[in-house]
Amino acid sequence: MISYPIYKLIHLFGIFLMFASLAGLAFYTANGGTKANNVLRKQSAIAHGVAMFLILLGGFGMLARMGITHFPWPVWVYLKFAIWILFGGLVALVARKPTVAKVMWLLMPFLGVLAAYIAIMKPF
Ligand code: HEM
Repeated sequence: MISYPIYKLIHLFGIFLMFASLAGLAFYTANGGTKANNVLRKQSAIAHGVAMFLILLGGFGMLARMGITHFPWPVWVYLKFAIWILFGGLVALVARKPTVAKVMWLLMPFLGVLAAYIAIMKPF
């Protein structure tokens, strides 16, 4: 049985991988790089996909160990899920739009800390 701390490490590894892939992609696009010319296009898409899966696996694994297995989830879980969907959609945006890539490179860490705040403080 996978323990709570292992699920947390999986969650964190997924988060680090997600930020690495999104930040790299955002920098590339902001510098004028196009999707078609990106030699690491496949690698960054795979890294982002694996990261999103690991975040979900670690997140729901921790919830299971906390005894949260059924609907309705607590509100903070819905909020984290919404942030997860947002980070999922960002890969398409930062690969295509240089202006969005520039802004999001700066905003992504704040969105990440908001997700952490919601998990740690559970304000709702
Ligand atoms: C469906 C998506 C997600 C679920 C279900 C989820 C769930 C959880 C849970 C259950 C915890 C542990 C809370 C506790 O220890 O009491 C946690 C911690 C954490 N989550 Fe998420 N999370 C999700 C998405 C995200 C995303 C997208 C990020 C950041 C980009 C993130 C960042 C963090 C961080 C940094 C912690 C560590 C907090 C600590 O050390 O206690 N999570 N998450």
